[in-house]
Amino acid sequence: MKRNLLLLLAILIFGAGYAQTKVMLPEPDKTGGMPLMEALSKRSTDRNFTGKALTQQQLSDLLWGAWGINRADGRRTAPSAVNAQDIDLYVFLPDGAYRYDAGEHALVLVAKGDFRDGVCTQAFGKTAPVHVVFVSDLTRLRGNDEQQKRITAAADSGFIGQNIYLVAASEGMKSVVYHGGIDRTKVAELLGLPATSWPVCGQAVGF
Ligand SMILES: Cc1cc2nc3c(=O)[nH]c(=O)nc-3n(C[C@H](O)[C@H](O)[C@H](O)COP(=O)(O)O)c2cc1C
Repeated sequence: MKRNLLLLLAILIFGAGYAQTKVMLPEPDKTGGMPLMEALSKRSTDRNFTGKALTQQQLSDLLWGAWGINRADGRRTAPSAVNAQDIDLYVFLPDGAYRYDAGEHALVLVAKGDFRDGVCTQAFGKTAPVHVVFVSDLTRLRGNDEQQKRITAAADSGFIGQNIYLVAASEGMKSVVYHGGIDRTKVAELLGLPATSWPVCGQAVGF
């Protein structure tokens, strides 16, 4: 009896924990949005957010558009040098920090809590409902030249950032990419990044 009770308790604790650690995103709407030329004509930086949250569908479209898998061989919506796919996207929401798992199209919880304000040092840190932080795992890049690797990581991030700008424009959302406004030390600390991972930049999205 006591053993059964313990087993039930374990299932409840670990079962509930598991349910909270991974959030499966809805299928992205791959045929929606506005014509590309219209999205390009609306692409802009806007830092004045109301704080209104994105729906799960908007978050799904945003992340898939940013850096999702768009081919059977695992290649992505943005290019990367020698297909190194060195960038991981971390998503900071009011309830926690998550890693975007493109293979599963899911958010994997990394840390619970609201860290948006710490990660982004600018005024929109606390008002934007979503901050996407681009982290390059430099070990996935070829060569020994550290500076060259960072240039490659920055170039790879640029394509993802533009994808985010275009999805945001297409879905009536605002966005700002930030390179100066990111606290890299805090990001590394919060995410438990090794020294070989470099937080390249962040991008805020909202309304
Ligand atoms: C590499 C890069 C770094 C940027 N860093 C910041 C930043 O730290 N903070 C910020 O508020 N905007 C940042 N921006 C946004 C620019 O200020 C913005 O793109 C520029 O003013 C042009 O406006 P537009 O995007 O509407 O064309 C950055 C843009 C780029 C491309």
